[in-house]
Amino acid sequence: MTGVTLPAYAKLNLTLDVLRRRNDGYHDLASVMQTVSLHDDVSVALTEDGGIVCRCGDIPGDESNLAVRAARAFFVKTGIPPRGLYIDVVKRIPVGAGLAGGSADAAAVLRGLRALLRPEISRSELERIAAVVGSDVPYCIRGGTVLSEGRGECLTPLPGAPRFCVVLCKPAFSLSTPMMFSRIRAEELSRRPDTAGMLDALRRGDRAGVAARVRNVFEDVLPPEYAEVFAIRDRLLKLGAEAAAMSGSGPTVFGLFGDDMAAGSAYMELKSAYAQTFLTRFV
Ligand code: C5P
Repeated sequence: MTGVTLPAYAKLNLTLDVLRRRNDGYHDLASVMQTVSLHDDVSVALTEDGGIVCRCGDIPGDESNLAVRAARAFFVKTGIPPRGLYIDVVKRIPVGAGLAGGSADAAAVLRGLRALLRPEISRSELERIAAVVGSDVPYCIRGGTVLSEGRGECLTPLPGAPRFCVVLCKPAFSLSTPMMFSRIRAEELSRRPDTAGMLDALRRGDRAGVAARVRNVFEDVLPPEYAEVFAIRDRLLKLGAEAAAMSGSGPTVFGLFGDDMAAGSAYMELKSAYAQTFLTRFV
């Protein structure tokens, strides 16, 4: 086998709490993360010419691309002599959106290289390599409904969340993750997510309980010029979403719907105003 193609799924944060700033400059988090069906397609092929060539839609395929960084980390950390690679990403997940699109691509590259070169590498070893590439990459290796803690590398699988249809809507601007973290003063956050309550609702399969506990502290530090996020959130709620919140460090907003029809019509309505609107579901 010289090539594989894998789906790279987007994630959203059903809860996202920032607990404290760490000495290494990162933050300790507690977040219930959920995979959704929106995905990029990542192909990885071994080539004979030594270098890494990466095509990734409109995004540079250079050393700044997490997919390339993941490939380099794979060879460094496993000690496998570097091979020539061709990485092709069919991009659908919006960039700079809070949906971990770049991390998902990086995770797919790691899984692809494992399949091609060293199938016996364990998932936990692959997740350790993933953590070097970025805080969300270990979760993207794992996927599903997961409690993510520490910097994002401490993962606890959770009972699968009740099936919701999801409308994702990204306004035209992007937000920088370091900028959003720099606005957080963890000790000053007043309305924290009820993470324990969310875990309990998931264990009980309690849809209403899950919807009631959707919350992201980054909404509290959003600069006022990006208030469109709240307008989208309110619109999703008016259109029948059982819960709506910003995902990750934003600015994409997700709405959770129990009913396909309501999700479909909310999608149609928002799509006419926002090009980057997607109808998707939990996976
Ligand atoms: O790990 P990653 O490169 O994705 O993180 C991007 C930035 O987000 C970091 O440079 C840091 O500013 C911030 N971050 C953080 N705490 C985390 C994850 C990310 O402060 N747990």
